[in-house]
Amino acid sequence: MKDRLKRISEIQEEINFKELFTNPARLFGYTYFYFLIVLVGLGIYFVQHLNEINKNTIPPFVVTDSLNAKKDISFALPVEIPPVDVFKLSEPTPDLLEKGKAFYNTNCSSCHGETGKGDGPAGLVMNPKPRNFTLKDGWINGRKISEIYKTLQEGILKSGMPAYNHVNPEELFAVIHYVRTFAPDFPKDTQSDLQALNDTYKLSQGKKSAGQIPTSKSLTLIVNENSEKSLIYYGIIELLNQTTPYNSLIISKEKFAGFLVNVITAKMNETEFFNIIKINPVHYGLSPRINFLNEQDKKNFYDYFVSYNYKKV
Ligand code: HEC
Repeated sequence: MKDRLKRISEIQEEINFKELFTNPARLFGYTYFYFLIVLVGLGIYFVQHLNEINKNTIPPFVVTDSLNAKKDISFALPVEIPPVDVFKLSEPTPDLLEKGKAFYNTNCSSCHGETGKGDGPAGLVMNPKPRNFTLKDGWINGRKISEIYKTLQEGILKSGMPAYNHVNPEELFAVIHYVRTFAPDFPKDTQSDLQALNDTYKLSQGKKSAGQIPTSKSLTLIVNENSEKSLIYYGIIELLNQTTPYNSLIISKEKFAGFLVNVITAKMNETEFFNIIKINPVHYGLSPRINFLNEQDKKNFYDYFVSYNYKKV
């Protein structure tokens, strides 16, 4: 009976086994576990080797230097422009004309010429030529006070006529009046021209603004300042690498050099120097024996490391 049962189950297995060929999906039932292991293995391999696998693809765009990537502000001096009365300043007075002449001769005549003919030495090679104020033709902004004011505020940058927007409005009016003496027929501004001029540049309000320094510029300053410090640092390290009379007093060259950089840039005197060291010499890379030197030796030590370097800074 037992034998029979065993035989039956054997036959059963044989039958199942044969079924594998008629119904191959059954094969998966036996092998899916191995597939699973292989797939998981491939997955792990892929994740671990992502860098190499992706080598030939285009790298993503990464902004490495986000500080420089931002649009920087421009350099500007602090301005303090007093409020002015446009209507009053639009009348030439002897005082304004005199100021205007002085301003013209220092700032404009090099290009526009002393007699306003556009033949100043600096203007000779310019193209277009500086405006000839004695002629009516070819003006871009125009010959009215308000139009010349715009020229001076904004410049005509593409042709090299500079902007004078940092200049006090009263001085601008003065030079405009002077320029307008070069020809007899300059057009007059209407009340509304003057009103518009006032409104455009807020001349009756005056202006006060803080100076600004571009981040990139200030960063260079910081970097330069630090590179100056690192020059001092490496100079000291070099000095310490040689045999100095004080080698036995220095227990850490790096610490001592780092401390000296600050001492030197702060221009500490001898008393200040030893007052700081006194508390914890080891912290500054020095042996505690430094505190037991006599006055003369202390002075020599200070001179050797500190005053010596002052000459370089
Ligand atoms: C570096 C040379 C240079 C200096 C300095 C200079 N200018 Fe000019 N200026 C020019 C040039 C060049 C032009 C012609 C621009 C053009 O035709 O595009 C011009 C044009 C002008 C115009 C005519 C604008 C228009 O509407 O066509 C006026 C007004 C003027 N300048 C006034 C002045 C005054 C006032 C000063 C001094 C505060 C001055 N310039 C200083 C080069 C200069």
